[in-house]
Amino acid sequence: MSKPYNRKDTYYKQAKAEGYRSRAAYKLKELHDKFKLFKKGDRVADLGCWPGGWVQVACGYVGESGKVIGVDLVECDPLPFSQALLISGDVRDDSTIAQLMEQAPDGFDLVISDMSPKHTGIREADVAAMSHCSELSLWAAQRLLKPGGHWVTKVFRNHELGPFVQQARPYFEKVNQSGLKSTRKSSSEIYLIGMGYKG
Ligand SMILES: C[S@@+](CC[C@H](N)C(=O)[O-])C[C@H]1O[C@@H](n2cnc3c(N)ncnc32)[C@H](O)[C@@H]1O
Repeated sequence: MSKPYNRKDTYYKQAKAEGYRSRAAYKLKELHDKFKLFKKGDRVADLGCWPGGWVQVACGYVGESGKVIGVDLVECDPLPFSQALLISGDVRDDSTIAQLMEQAPDGFDLVISDMSPKHTGIREADVAAMSHCSELSLWAAQRLLKPGGHWVTKVFRNHELGPFVQQARPYFEKVNQSGLKSTRKSSSEIYLIGMGYKG
């Protein structure tokens, strides 16, 4: 029998104890450990950033010479990092993309997206909405990245994953897929990591 869903699992408790706003913080750490995504001084766009766990982690990696611009439909409480800027907006809007570009006129070194829709519990609707978020993330990355930059996005393991990976592949030197230890066992999420944007 599968284990019952435990909202307050080990990563949840660790996030509380270490001052992270979400257990998702450990996913970005795992991704960085595997793929060495961040460098000091990087410009980073975090799409779907609320409540801000990834922004906290990214600020640590880029340091005070970097910039982390988080955007979400939901307003984020401010964070005590001079390199963080949190904006409210919908990634689907050209005005949001323009606001992001103002912060990095030469393009971003890294676009990270943990965007996901509100779950309805209706499988087909949830799969379609998640696919939309992943496609939106690729669309935004093409507008925001500088050549050579990297892209990270959440996807679900389902029949739409293969075609989506094929769609992303021409834009990057390499597209990796990674499941994570810190993802809940009940979830089918994995991450795509596009390295070396071709521009
Ligand atoms: C799983 S949460 C992100 C958690 C975050 N990475 C963290 O570490 O705290 C997904 C977020 O994506 C946001 N989102 C979904 N669609 C969006 C869109 N079109 N534009 C901006 N944000 C979006 C949701 O509002 C939600 O807050």
